[in-house]
Amino acid sequence: MKKLFPVLLAGTLLSITACSGSQSSSSSSGGSAAPASSGSNSSTGKPTIGVAIYKFDDTFMTGVRNAISDAAKDKAEVDIVDSQNSQPTQNDKVDLFITKKVNALAINPVDRTAAGVIIDKAKAANVPVVFLNREPLPEDMKKWDKVYYVGAKAEESGTLEGQIVADYFKSHKEADKNHDGVLQYVMLKGEPGHQDAELRTKYSIQAVEQAGIKTQKLAEDTAMWDRVKGEEKMAAFLGSQGDKIEAVFANNDDMALGAIEALKAKGYFQNGKYMPVVGVDATAPAIQALQDGTLLGTVLNDAKNQGKATLNLAAVLAQGQTPNKANTGYDITDGKYVWIPYKKITKENINDAK
Ligand code: GAL
Repeated sequence: MKKLFPVLLAGTLLSITACSGSQSSSSSSGGSAAPASSGSNSSTGKPTIGVAIYKFDDTFMTGVRNAISDAAKDKAEVDIVDSQNSQPTQNDKVDLFITKKVNALAINPVDRTAAGVIIDKAKAANVPVVFLNREPLPEDMKKWDKVYYVGAKAEESGTLEGQIVADYFKSHKEADKNHDGVLQYVMLKGEPGHQDAELRTKYSIQAVEQAGIKTQKLAEDTAMWDRVKGEEKMAAFLGSQGDKIEAVFANNDDMALGAIEALKAKGYFQNGKYMPVVGVDATAPAIQALQDGTLLGTVLNDAKNQGKATLNLAAVLAQGQTPNKANTGYDITDGKYVWIPYKKITKENINDAK
């Protein structure tokens, strides 16, 4: 709820009067919400897609949100709403979309275990759903054949992150500060229970070990994908572990950038004092940090293709068709999943992320 005031202030009076609390965009009309009573296939003749993002105040999801709007262009009217990191709020938004008779839903769940409830509502109203970024449990995905998921394989991003650190550790003897042949690290985790937080944590370290480097975890804590929390947690790690830390793994770039701020405050990244820090997403500020030489590496989490695939699938479903490679442009695995590949990004291939 503490986010309500800024959201209301930032939002327009219009959206409040429309009772949707939403930000809408459409290809042709430049942003007017579909009237509550108009239902499907508004005056433009395009299908209407209700999109609920877990929270607008998330760097990576802002990229995905913009990609959805861009991809909607001539295909659909999209009504994109902020669930404000509250599952009950998101459920209310879904109810409203169903009442408005949208033709398809695209949902970035707040709590991925709540997907089952959303599927039940959607199925009862016969409104197809594409989930994105937060993967519903397999048993929920099986509840209905008009349920899809667009995301990226979390294991893959963890592995690539670990490889960046392993390569660095192998090629920089001085990185093993205490010369014990073991990599002492700290881990900044995303939201507990999120597949990307759990699997990136596991697979990043597994990749380092698979490269033949022993590891020792000095500390681990969640910073909830957040830059400010990342800085606070890293400051605490530096307070308790000091110079014992040889590498910082963060489940995303925002937390990595927060950690870099805390490190800078302790004199790192000047006068030859260095710390390898890795993240995931390849956001614009992370690419800048890579260029500045503070961030060692990141992994491209392809917001553009995740947004585009979500919109393409939802638009096809909204027209009563079954998504396939020909009508969406994306491979569909196991009849339900679109997996967008990750890519390792270091200073050497920085242009691939730009
Ligand atoms: C992850 C991303 C994070 C955060 C999270 C939200 O894929 O790496 O930065 O956006 O999704 O669910």
